[in-house]
Amino acid sequence: MKSLIQRMPKAELHLHIEGTLEPELMFEFASRNRVALTYKSPEEVRKAYEFSDLQSFLDIYYEGTRVMIRDRDFHDLARAYLNKAHEQNVRHAEVFFDPQAHTERGVPMQAIIEGLHHAFREGEREFGISSALILCFLRHLSAAAAMQTLEAALPYREYFSGVGLDSSERGHPPEKFTAVFARARQEGLFVVAHAGEEGPPDYVWQALDALQASRIDHGVRCMEDPALVARLRSERVPLTVCPLSNVKLRVFDRIEDHNLKQLLDAGLCVTINSDDPAYFGGYINENFLAIHNAFGFTKDELHTLAGNSFEAAFLPEERKRLILQELDQL
Ligand code: HPA
Ligand code: ZN
Repeated sequence: MKSLIQRMPKAELHLHIEGTLEPELMFEFASRNRVALTYKSPEEVRKAYEFSDLQSFLDIYYEGTRVMIRDRDFHDLARAYLNKAHEQNVRHAEVFFDPQAHTERGVPMQAIIEGLHHAFREGEREFGISSALILCFLRHLSAAAAMQTLEAALPYREYFSGVGLDSSERGHPPEKFTAVFARARQEGLFVVAHAGEEGPPDYVWQALDALQASRIDHGVRCMEDPALVARLRSERVPLTVCPLSNVKLRVFDRIEDHNLKQLLDAGLCVTINSDDPAYFGGYINENFLAIHNAFGFTKDELHTLAGNSFEAAFLPEERKRLILQELDQL
């Protein structure tokens, strides 16, 4: 099955580019930008990656972003991810970035967006990986700050395709961001949102109704609300599930306790993703392998999960059809 997982064409729909910062790259950026790190070596950094919940991870994740300063850093970060994605047969990536984690430190919006954009264009040319950038608002910051961030990004509108919502979920309901998401939709941006990772099912309802999200990131807590499951099923709202992340952040104690099988059995459009692979111990194939080992998924089930990722992607129908045809031939 390992070889099938490798060979399946896949779309990655839940990946934070800042979460692909491997410790070695963190040291390289820190050195060239003269940023002092509290760790002495990449090994020491890796040892610090023990998390008790989402917030304990975010504290370290934002600390890591301090080494990203120039457009070249964002470019090189994305190039490193693209090499990995190509190695793992990812054909399409819809990638989150957190501008506020950088603009708050004085990094210009232009450096962030243009650095990322150029790398993903190279990925398209060199590897044939199509991509879309998703600008995420940090939900622990204010709605006004989110609106300012969108306005600051609009001069680069052609370089990103969607908006999302991430960071500390508890106590920061999607409704807080209704106005900025309405403004984003007016600009023709697609809408996704993290909800139901640590937060209650009600946050998933809000993401759907107040923000009009067309896809839910994580969403695993929807299982606590049968009416919500029925809605997600009937509207075929995709969930971007991140199994290794959920275990690392203690949403589930062990991979065997993950509710992935229940989500699939409920008829939901589930996709498999890596979230923050440098922090959570694996990229997309390692996530597929972990769930295969835990649940003994059959070839058909693995195909369904990979197929769902293209169904859930914002891609032209013709490209979807061609890739799905390829998947069917495996
Ligand atoms: N959840 C919320 N915010 C995040 C995550 C996540 O898994 N990763 C990076 N920012
Ligand atoms: Zn995430």
